[in-house]
Amino acid sequence: MERILLVMVGLPARGKSVLARKICRYLRFIGHDARIFNVGSYRRAHLGDHKPAAFFDPNNPDGSEARQRVADTALADALSWLRTGGEVAIYDATNSTRARRAHLLEHAGRASVPVLFIESICHDTSIVESNITDTKLRSPDYVGVAPDAALADFRQRIALYEQAYEQVADPDLSFVQVIDAGRQVVVNRVEGQLLARVVALLLNSRLLRRTIWLTRHGESVFNVRGLIGGDSPLSPRGQDYASALGRHFDSVPEGLVVWTSTLGRAIDTGRHIAAPHVEWRQLDEIDAGICDGMTYAEIAARMPSLASARSSDKLRFRYPQGESYLDVVRRIELLILELERRTAPTVIVSHQAVLRCLYAYLVGEPVEHCPHLAMPLHTLVELTPSAYGSDERRILLAPRVEERPSVMPPPVDEV
Ligand code: SIN
Repeated sequence: MERILLVMVGLPARGKSVLARKICRYLRFIGHDARIFNVGSYRRAHLGDHKPAAFFDPNNPDGSEARQRVADTALADALSWLRTGGEVAIYDATNSTRARRAHLLEHAGRASVPVLFIESICHDTSIVESNITDTKLRSPDYVGVAPDAALADFRQRIALYEQAYEQVADPDLSFVQVIDAGRQVVVNRVEGQLLARVVALLLNSRLLRRTIWLTRHGESVFNVRGLIGGDSPLSPRGQDYASALGRHFDSVPEGLVVWTSTLGRAIDTGRHIAAPHVEWRQLDEIDAGICDGMTYAEIAARMPSLASARSSDKLRFRYPQGESYLDVVRRIELLILELERRTAPTVIVSHQAVLRCLYAYLVGEPVEHCPHLAMPLHTLVELTPSAYGSDERRILLAPRVEERPSVMPPPVDEV
């Protein structure tokens, strides 16, 4: 197994932690064991919260010595985690001087761990400004501090780091430089399967805030009859949901695009939203193979061993001639890169299993949780990624189908 230390580099407010979290989330989603070692968190745990800007002054010997100590503790933990089976350690700190990076290389070299530096550089001051205001005010460093005081202190901290900052420039090092939130990416001496995936992510990532909405198609005729799979049309209640969805996007956010699966019920659900539509096969529902068009009761009665295999490991269970949740995770990998490239808002109309996997990726839920995540019908899930996770709102746009009286058997989940 490849082991690697990814070392973030850059001044404060350049989006390093956002990038670190994105890389970690992506690697975990595609099956790698990745972990972040954030030096700021070590500092807070070892030295307490609310260190004033002066603490970060390179000419403050006490501050420098204390910072070096916590940085080395985090590094030792990262290397020890790699030694004991970890795969990708992401060392998240400024690492903004040549001397600091040489120190890291020396320690990683002794542990025979290769290093890739990932530097975030911003020439565009508007990106820095939005990082400062959007994210730093929510930083654990400034909890309970008045916004004006927090801003002034943080700007001072950045200015102190600027005095000593040296960009990565050594052509012998392995590094990726992400410039202006992904507008330009420089790749130098990067080799290997795993790092190729990291580079693919970085080439596609735009580190800008934009909202993504996820919704299942409206209730379908198959939902009402308790049948899985198929390509049945929307029920009358499903059509009501499609209309409500259109009304919700009455004033269309700039640049909005609607992504749907290629299945009729998803296309129909999105059709009232006045924005460009794109159909993706990757958004089609998990393929239920020989069980397509059956009810769960039928599956349990006719293929009991299959039903019990499914309930004992829903993540890996593959419908004969169909797919498993893990297959769906693999299937949407390229779609995720496409989504990462988007700088404008996106509505995704798809199906329960696929949306569970996409949602898991977007909020950083472990893949093992995918088959059990709540993704109810007639609920719009609004996600806005931020530096400290994803802000989420769930909007019920039409009565929950389960709450409506019906002479039909109660609708069941599809898969
Ligand atoms: C921190 O203490 O927030 C990080 C220190 C650093 O990376 O320079």
